[in-house]
Amino acid sequence: MGEKVYVLGAGSTKYGKLSESIIEIALNASKDAIDSAGITPKDVKAGYISNVFGVADKQVHMAPVIMSNLGIPEVPGLTIESACGSGSVMFREAFANVSAGFYDCVLALGVEKVTHTSTVESTTLFSYCSDFFYEGGNGASFPGLFGSMARAYLATYKATEEDLARVAVKNHENGLLNPKAHVRKKITVDDVLKSPVVASPLKLYDCCPFSDGASAVILCNEEFAKKSGKPYIEIVGSGRGASPASVQSRKDITTIPSTVEAARQAYKMANLSPKDIDFVEVHDCFTIAELIDIEDLGFFPKGTAAQAVREGRTKLNSDITVNPSGGLKSKGHPIGATGVGQVVEVYEQFTNKAGDRTVKDAEIAMTHNFGATGASAAVHIFKKIK
Ligand SMILES: CC(C)(COP(=O)(O)OP(=O)(O)OC[C@H]1O[C@@H](n2cnc3c(N)ncnc32)[C@H](O)[C@@H]1OP(=O)(O)O)[C@@H](O)C(=O)NCCC(=O)NCCS
Repeated sequence: MGEKVYVLGAGSTKYGKLSESIIEIALNASKDAIDSAGITPKDVKAGYISNVFGVADKQVHMAPVIMSNLGIPEVPGLTIESACGSGSVMFREAFANVSAGFYDCVLALGVEKVTHTSTVESTTLFSYCSDFFYEGGNGASFPGLFGSMARAYLATYKATEEDLARVAVKNHENGLLNPKAHVRKKITVDDVLKSPVVASPLKLYDCCPFSDGASAVILCNEEFAKKSGKPYIEIVGSGRGASPASVQSRKDITTIPSTVEAARQAYKMANLSPKDIDFVEVHDCFTIAELIDIEDLGFFPKGTAAQAVREGRTKLNSDITVNPSGGLKSKGHPIGATGVGQVVEVYEQFTNKAGDRTVKDAEIAMTHNFGATGASAAVHIFKKIK
């Protein structure tokens, strides 16, 4: 293990349908993060940018463009893609470079803009993140693939479509408390069950939306953090895992191996276990994913997540608060930004900026974000500095 690494500042645009260009939203989030860290762009020694579909906005090789627009064209930037898990995979690279002592202060920015394309176009573009030979190329969209996982889960364990719906209801409740969330709407289990079927058993309200958005954080070493005079939080655990790329090549599709391995590494580095985590931001691209995630991360034994949700044990300020931000389901899923947005949520929670969705007395938090159906995943653990 190298140097200790801290998150010193954070910023995020609203998630949803945004009218500004991809570069404008990236700059807005970056400037907010830089301001909140009490630094200037000249303090940033490297930039890490996560983005997947810049090509849909006619801008790839985004890192140098962002650095130039921030007035620091001489600062090296790197654009990283790992599908819907790009944000957390990029965050880990930024963390590793500060921890290794290469830089004392870096910008980690995630950005995505897709709502200018139609649902059909976005679904097609997103399917390029699957194992296209087996999946996307044969018409398997992400709702379809997660629909298969949901079908398998419901057939294997004591879980029902109502239980999936309860995940959406809970995340919409939390999202209502988040002014930057995309879908801010109170819904009932009945609303979810009656919403149009997208990929059975998943319905409209079981799915995350297509969102635009950007989130950014400043990472730094201990000396830099202490000098800043600003609040900061510590990154105490980091892990990455991988799964077979296509769902059909996995032995069991009611678990995601990359999550299990990334969590194992993060817990080991932090010397912590699931019972130590006060709240978690998980990758709930579809309601079924949240059930699988909270088992794979060790919060509930295999096959019992639905019961835990039914008993309200994942609600705000319950046994373990899951997705206080509203999660991908309500807060939104601008795919390259999502993993960074989760870190912004932890920073806001631990620096008294989370308002009505504050998790009471929280000191340890986790973020979990994966790419595609979980081919890649990263997990991070954070500690509040009192
Ligand atoms: C669920 C989905 C198919 C809906 O697309 P759509 O039918 O074209 O929906 P529209 O954009 O026409 O919106 C229809 C209405 O539903 C709302 N809506 C759209 N997606 C929504 C969602 N996921 N949750 C809640 N409401 C949603 C819209 O705001 C709109 O409401 P309005 O009529 O009051 O304005 C689409 O959002 C989807 O594919 N989501 C998954 C994205 C994905 O795969 N991400 C990667 C995960 S791995």
